[in-house]
Amino acid sequence: MSPKILIIGACGQIGSELTVKLRSIYGNDQVVASDISYNNLDIVNSGLFEILDAQDYASLKICIEKYEIDTVYLMAAMLSATGEKYPMKAWDLNMNSLFHVLNLAKEGFIKKVFWPSSIAVFGPTTPKINTPQYTVMEPSTVYGITKQVGERWCEYYFNKYNVDVRSIRYPGIISYKTLPGGGTTDYAVDIYHKALSDSHYDCFLTEGTELPMMFMDDAIKATVDIMQAPAESIKIRSAYNLAAVSFTPKEVAESIKKQLPDFTISYTPDFRQDIADSWPKSIDDSEARNHWNWKHQFDLEGITSEMLTNLKKKTPQHS
Ligand code: SER
Repeated sequence: MSPKILIIGACGQIGSELTVKLRSIYGNDQVVASDISYNNLDIVNSGLFEILDAQDYASLKICIEKYEIDTVYLMAAMLSATGEKYPMKAWDLNMNSLFHVLNLAKEGFIKKVFWPSSIAVFGPTTPKINTPQYTVMEPSTVYGITKQVGERWCEYYFNKYNVDVRSIRYPGIISYKTLPGGGTTDYAVDIYHKALSDSHYDCFLTEGTELPMMFMDDAIKATVDIMQAPAESIKIRSAYNLAAVSFTPKEVAESIKKQLPDFTISYTPDFRQDIADSWPKSIDDSEARNHWNWKHQFDLEGITSEMLTNLKKKTPQHS
């Protein structure tokens, strides 16, 4: 039987593409999209939609009962850069929403939960190259702290209350449909927009800052795959390392220049440099590959080609 799904944060960067994908797999009637406001009219108008504050337990419960939801994808969160500006708001949003969903699962209102973690769970003392699944984790951002603590609680709810919660540590996600907001890896999306609009990008990270990244299609595939995998194949109930590619701003600029030879880049690092410096450069995701057959498809050249082609289509004056 098809799951009856609620997506919280369905208008955001990942939520919006996940909503479209889940509607195409399970049918429009099976997927309720929700967000705190009507941020993305394509999502609002293309199926069931509810205004929902992820921190409001009562409204969340009413929505879950109204639609007889059994599976929740909790995509609402405050990301790393914004979190440093509003630490307590980031803590409240990221933790309260998770506890509400985990408790609704514990109480039997829902059966299955997807909650994303992030490479931000790692910190300055973590080995930076091919960061293993199990390693030192001392996150130095509020966002990273919420994700690290969240992972502990997910595992706890699985062990103590048998809550079927599944999670992956997303790297920076690159997409052309919806803009990211408030993250440190956002440069890798902005750069493509500016390459087409201004032929120049001033990067807030230094040229050699290598970070793990992934094209949106791969991130959505990972999310669908881990949720469709048989429960016994999910052997890690905190969150899985997940990787596709790693690159620096300079490498993205070079790959853009192959298609747009006039493109130039400058570097003006800001407070986000410290955040990026605390994160891994590359991730070992063998467990995800072995346990539930994770495979990525897009490398940097593939990402650049998809980004430029699709952004040109969206704004025809660029072509
Ligand atoms: N993309 C996120 C950020 O930069 C990391 O998970 O905050």
